[in-house]
Amino acid sequence: MAALPSSAKIGIIGAGTMGAGIAQVAARAGYQVLLFDAMVGAVEKGLQRITQDLERLVKRGKLTSPERDVILWRISPVHSLEALAPAKLVLEAIVEDLEVKRNLFAQIETICGDEVIPATNTSSLSITAIGAKLKRPQNLVGMHFFNPAPVMKLVEVVSGIDTDPGIAATIYDTAQAWGKIAVHVKSTPGFIVNRVARPFYAEGMRVLQEGGADAATLDAILRESGGFPMGPFELMDLIGHDVNFAVTGSVFTAYFNDQRFQPSLLQQELVSAGYLGRKTGRGFHFYEHEDGRSPTLPATTEPGPRPGAVTVHGHLGVAEPLVDRLSQAGITVTRADGDGYLQVAGTRLYLSDGRLATERAAATGCANLALFDLALDYVKAGRIALTTADQAAPETAAIAAGLFQALGKTVSVIDDIPGLMVMRTVCMLANEGADAVNQGVCTAEAVDLGMRNGVNYPRGPLAWAEAIGLPTVLSVLDNLARTYGEDRYRASPLLRRKVFGGSTFHG
Ligand code: NAI
Repeated sequence: MAALPSSAKIGIIGAGTMGAGIAQVAARAGYQVLLFDAMVGAVEKGLQRITQDLERLVKRGKLTSPERDVILWRISPVHSLEALAPAKLVLEAIVEDLEVKRNLFAQIETICGDEVIPATNTSSLSITAIGAKLKRPQNLVGMHFFNPAPVMKLVEVVSGIDTDPGIAATIYDTAQAWGKIAVHVKSTPGFIVNRVARPFYAEGMRVLQEGGADAATLDAILRESGGFPMGPFELMDLIGHDVNFAVTGSVFTAYFNDQRFQPSLLQQELVSAGYLGRKTGRGFHFYEHEDGRSPTLPATTEPGPRPGAVTVHGHLGVAEPLVDRLSQAGITVTRADGDGYLQVAGTRLYLSDGRLATERAAATGCANLALFDLALDYVKAGRIALTTADQAAPETAAIAAGLFQALGKTVSVIDDIPGLMVMRTVCMLANEGADAVNQGVCTAEAVDLGMRNGVNYPRGPLAWAEAIGLPTVLSVLDNLARTYGEDRYRASPLLRRKVFGGSTFHG
């Protein structure tokens, strides 16, 4: 299957945030666009926004003025649906309403004829349901862009029950011809990105609700240790709690109240108070500064004693790069047998496995036990989160902090929360991705491409889980499930199968 040729006219209905952005993408790729909107003046407003956006690119040297002019010339405003008759692909980005979209596509079928591909940018409606009443439901496909469409790389190509695989392939190739990264996905609530991303917000709010640390500290941990571009609280504040809470609620309901997607009471409180985030000046953070940035600083632990010597007992797994860093920092490192921990004076430091530090201290018989969190890259990470067992001596936190501070890292000691912050978030993201693969929604590659390019995660969750080690990820999930006794943390059968079969998602 090949992309639609650049001679094919593209009809875009809805010239709002998404429609205007998509028109810009198609025109920049060399396609003629017919842009329609039902509201008087909306197409002109959309064109104005496109012009301003292109102007910014010219100013930054990313586009020449003649290129800008050609792109704008390729977009023709039209003022009736009938004017879309020559279009080979008609993509709608109108109001999110099933009946309105159904009626629109019924008209498009009549106006544009048998060959047209009707495509929808819906985020939350079923492609099967939108297409069901059409004469040719096999032609209808989802073409789901991310906001802002000219910037975000991902397009989810969504197939309903009736979608012809050939049509989905054409749209996939067309999205690539438009400079995007496309992934195939079956029509299921949240598709890939809006489904797999739920734990990013949910685990953050869980840890906040349980008093692990404050929002600024948890944001900093996910950014500086997890490598995510933004922490969950600042990101939700940016998206708007009304929007984010509605998406979570709709995914939760769509999955018949599966606990994995359960909304948070904390966010409900913000929504009911009207604290919707940046746009209202207050969300999890306050935004009273002129630049709109939150002035709240993350909690950072005071300098602890610098260790002269550290014993590494066994293999540290994904945290093994710490060993070389310790030597490079001039600390004497000795290796010994053990189940994978660092020993400094009488304190043991383990990587979190989803159990409470307090439980682990009891299990190992070592009271002075600290846990450290997952980092995307232990060499580059600027911050590390730690916690200590309830039975630990008061100096345990300072001793554990001193070790990471000797490596140049900022340390945040948080309360004893199972799975700390980065580890539980990444394991839950990977688990959700694994379940999407298990249910035939998409491939493992699509999960990773989707999350890297739809929400700019630093690493695909399944590739990340493989880097951590799938047995470790499964242990974290099983320990969380046992500790909380909640269905929310049940491990995907596919993850368990990969662990016991000794294979990987990409192998
Ligand atoms: P918007 O409100 O910015 O724009 C919608 C435009 O459609 C408006 O200009 C409106 O006048 C026009 N419109 C409404 N009903 C119409 C009709 N029956 N016929 C023709 N034009 C009509 O909305 P936005 O944010 O661009 O969203 C559009 C679609 O894209 C929705 O389905 C939404 O779920 C989806 N989407 C939105 C994303 C976002 O972040 N805003 C991301 C991905 C998808």
